[in-house]
Amino acid sequence: MIGYNFMGKAHSNAWRQAPKFFDLPVDIALHTICGRNRTGVEKAAKTLGWKNASTDWMTVVTDPEIDIIDISTPTDSHHAIALAAAKNKKAILCEKPLGMDLAQCREMVQAVRKAGVVNMVCHNYRRIPAIALAKQIIERGDLGDRIYHYRARYAQDWIADPSFPLVWRLQSGTAGLGTLGCIGSHIIDLGRYLVGEYAEVSGLMETFITERPLLAETGAGLKAKAGKRMGKVDVEDAANWIGRFKNGALASMEATRFAHGRKNQITLEINGSGGSLVFDFEDMNRLKYYRASDPEETRGFRDILVTESSHPSMQAWWPPGHIIGYEHTFTNTFADFIQAVVAGQSVQPTFEDGYANEKMLSAIVQSAKTRKWVKVKN
Ligand SMILES: NC(=O)c1ccc[n+]([C@@H]2O[C@H](COP(=O)([O-])OP(=O)(O)OC[C@H]3O[C@@H](n4cnc5c(N)ncnc54)[C@H](O)[C@@H]3O)[C@@H](O)[C@H]2O)c1
Repeated sequence: MIGYNFMGKAHSNAWRQAPKFFDLPVDIALHTICGRNRTGVEKAAKTLGWKNASTDWMTVVTDPEIDIIDISTPTDSHHAIALAAAKNKKAILCEKPLGMDLAQCREMVQAVRKAGVVNMVCHNYRRIPAIALAKQIIERGDLGDRIYHYRARYAQDWIADPSFPLVWRLQSGTAGLGTLGCIGSHIIDLGRYLVGEYAEVSGLMETFITERPLLAETGAGLKAKAGKRMGKVDVEDAANWIGRFKNGALASMEATRFAHGRKNQITLEINGSGGSLVFDFEDMNRLKYYRASDPEETRGFRDILVTESSHPSMQAWWPPGHIIGYEHTFTNTFADFIQAVVAGQSVQPTFEDGYANEKMLSAIVQSAKTRKWVKVKN
């Protein structure tokens, strides 16, 4: 695993837990964790349960004892690590967004295809049981034969304070895009998963705070401290966009980190010809389902507690009603990925999905720049 901070911790937990809760054909050995700082990575290896620590990712991706490479670094290093890992025939699990731009994503798809290696991009929210259940409901036709609306909002507030420093997520050279690429990519992915391919989009982007204090120290992540000098923010703080799916459904979407009080809220509402679905990540074990064909006197939103063993991924967890949380979204994802590696067959979301996501991201950017509708090139 390359990178050992926020996602490093979440992923380490998922690698450790997946074989303990899911009935997998193999066990997972946490071989080597890699980062740039020797003291930091050695401490992380000890805390997170890895056997070895390294400061050179190239020696990790070329190590013959290693089967899987997990890329948990900022966006600017995904491409180089993935290309080298594919060349060395490793299965690859890569954090989102897949690459910095369309060209990088295309090359990453070509590299895994050429090498024939199992690959996945970590859009972990697909494996929230309530969202996977929503997918089943839609696929069964229980929302009707037409989807009319996909409304999605991903809202946080951790950079709303103008004195919050210029972390890597606010610098295009490291992050590529800002809020749109980081959290907007997740709701774009959920739209593709639940509704279908996007056809066209009209977007706007805004940077509310254009200058921020530089970091007092490097590598400080989300809990970074501000220094005295100022630097320029060159990514978007928020984005709104509307669009049309190929199947005719309409998309209304928003990604922001300026919604005070919203810490990590993902809300979805999908309306079809036969009913509606509502999801809120702050209540992630529940899915609200309205069926238009129910008898009039009892018709209303059902509040489904998605914790039955018949619900997606829930067979691995606790008895009904014993709820799960954020970390399980990764464990559910990694369990499917491990099975895919053993079977030699990728499962969604693959690098192809990461590339398709980037096509939508770049269409939104282009639309915001030109103030025109843009077709999404699928
Ligand atoms: N799936 C999700 O919900 C989710 C949530 C948060 C972050 N992410 C993604 O995960 C990735 C990492 O984000 P994070 O929040 O963990 O960031 P972070 O800043 O908390 O950690 C980044 C880690 O990468 C290491 N690193 C940076 N450049 C490196 C390099 N060239 N070589 C080796 N190590 C390097 C840093 O030392 C650090 O350990 C990003 O792509 C981000 O978009 C995904």
